[in-house]
Amino acid sequence: MKLPSTEQTTPNVRPKKLDLDQRAISILRENEWGDYTLPTKGLYPYQWNWDSMFVALGFSEIDLDRAWTEVESLFQGQWKNGMAAHIVFRRDSPSYFPGPKIWGGTHEVPTSGCSQPPVAATIVRDLYEKDPVQGKKRLLDLFPRLMRWHRWFHTMRVISGGAAIAVTHPWESGRDNSPDWDEALDDVDPSGVTPYTRKDLGHVDAAMRPTNAQYDRYIKLVEYGRNCGWDHAQITREGPFAVADPGITFILMRADRDLQALARYLEKESAVHEIDTWLYRDKIAADYLWNDDIDAYAARNMRNGQHSDGVSSVSFLSYYAGITKPKRDAKLQRTLNRILSIAPYSLPSFDPEHPKFDSKRYWRGPTWAIINYLVARGLSEYGFEEKANRIRLDTRRVIQKSGFYEYFDPITGEGSGGNNFTWTAAIWLAWASPMTDG
Ligand code: DGY
Repeated sequence: MKLPSTEQTTPNVRPKKLDLDQRAISILRENEWGDYTLPTKGLYPYQWNWDSMFVALGFSEIDLDRAWTEVESLFQGQWKNGMAAHIVFRRDSPSYFPGPKIWGGTHEVPTSGCSQPPVAATIVRDLYEKDPVQGKKRLLDLFPRLMRWHRWFHTMRVISGGAAIAVTHPWESGRDNSPDWDEALDDVDPSGVTPYTRKDLGHVDAAMRPTNAQYDRYIKLVEYGRNCGWDHAQITREGPFAVADPGITFILMRADRDLQALARYLEKESAVHEIDTWLYRDKIAADYLWNDDIDAYAARNMRNGQHSDGVSSVSFLSYYAGITKPKRDAKLQRTLNRILSIAPYSLPSFDPEHPKFDSKRYWRGPTWAIINYLVARGLSEYGFEEKANRIRLDTRRVIQKSGFYEYFDPITGEGSGGNNFTWTAAIWLAWASPMTDG
């Protein structure tokens, strides 16, 4: 695809349709901070794990070398145990809480103490396949790091006998305040939390963000991790919060397959075999997550086995993960049809017919361009072209209507959260723009 140059930008003004490609490029460049890119200025002043990987995908449309650099910089935040952290701090910024001191990690480049959805191997495969000659050396360096990170998930975030991947902090899921976590979060005792001041509410309307009661628990979970020296085996086995997440489980399954393709390119036979054992268990994980009461895959509290009772947008990532079961899929498709028929700017992050749906509050209803991209990619791979296209065109329309917001009201299309948001711009460039047609 051929894109225009980055000149003549008009920041903070909603761009006209034809300016959107150019504006998206400018957002990527304006949020660039040396070798990494901020999700948006002010609200998120560091490098976030999955944000950065979608940014790499966006950069790969205009500057493949810079795309690889983005991925490499993320792995500066990889711990000795293999975990690629969810935030890489590098410096302290007064506009964000909780910063590096609160997390209290010991990694040389300061980071948070949990991880985030591992889209990296999939994006690395995309970059490599765009130009295998340029990518070979960079892939050789990244491959062992990706292996160590996936191995960390498959050992540290499963509970014995299970295979679904648990998140031990809602922040690890990337879907911070999804109703998927409500029941398990209620069991986290917030008493005695060290007093703190939220910074996010200085940037974004409180009605679009998690509540204070949720924040108290988020910070309590950080304090638990810090107090046990970030012993992730203990955190997963005994910590206050462990919920099997369809989002992270399906994203890892897909990334496992892409990592295996990369292992084949590099002729790493022992890695191919190790990944086979992960892929075998992945199927069991999907069975564990299926909830017949709502005809969808749903989160499941690892402490008591209880399922979440609502459909979230990540329920539909099963196709992206490579999981199909005919009877189940027929039900899942009916669920998707129902949701698409209610939400004009799909795909809502939570079922609009559920009492907990909130069209503006972060992961409790709003539409996110990145999830749309992943879900549609999977649907398209399994031949559901019409639905994949509907989701892609909804993403295009909502950005054309409201600009490059962090997320969007699925009913009105209004933009919410941070503006000039890098991953929304990246998804525009890689997938939603009319420039990507045909
Ligand atoms: C935040 O601070 O809201 C982030 O989502 C945490 O990752």
